[in-house]
Amino acid sequence: MKKRIYLAVILFFGLSQFIKIDKTNPPVIAENDILNISNSSDKIKGLMKSACYDCHSNETKYPWYMDIAPISWWTKKHVNDGRSSLNYSEWNSYSEKTRRHKLEESALKVRKKWMPIRSYLLAHSEARISDTDRELLAKWFEAQI
Ligand code: HEC
Repeated sequence: MKKRIYLAVILFFGLSQFIKIDKTNPPVIAENDILNISNSSDKIKGLMKSACYDCHSNETKYPWYMDIAPISWWTKKHVNDGRSSLNYSEWNSYSEKTRRHKLEESALKVRKKWMPIRSYLLAHSEARISDTDRELLAKWFEAQI
């Protein structure tokens, strides 16, 4: 009986590898990106790219383990959800009011450590930014309002 369960799990895992995620990013248009529109230092650019851009931009980088299902499905869902709620690469398409709201939310979430999401930090050491860097990023968001 137990053997059958193991077999079923292995079969599921094996077959699930055939269901690939779509890793193509939407086109990156430099003039639409918050980092190009606003006045941002290299330090801010670096922090945004390493801590936020995998989920909130059109510049998502997919490491090798992203090819392993079901991790790949789960990560892809984060990218889709993250991008649809906030996309710094498409900043130009937001109204003045939306921008203000997103900036306030961004400052709050980075300060309270609600972002980047915890599970992501387990696999991405470069996104584990220090408290000083969090404050720097939050201040930068607020300065754009
Ligand atoms: C691993 C993916 C991931 C990373 C990395 C990430 N986020 Fe998010 N973020 C999400 C997801 C998914 C949502 C939507 C669901 C939610 O609110 O929890 C979200 C929502 C948000 C929202 C709310 C947007 C709105 O108006 O609803 C803000 C603001 C935000 N993130 C800011 C950030 C900032 C700033 C960083 C970097 C310091 C960051 N996030 C890093 C996945 C991510």
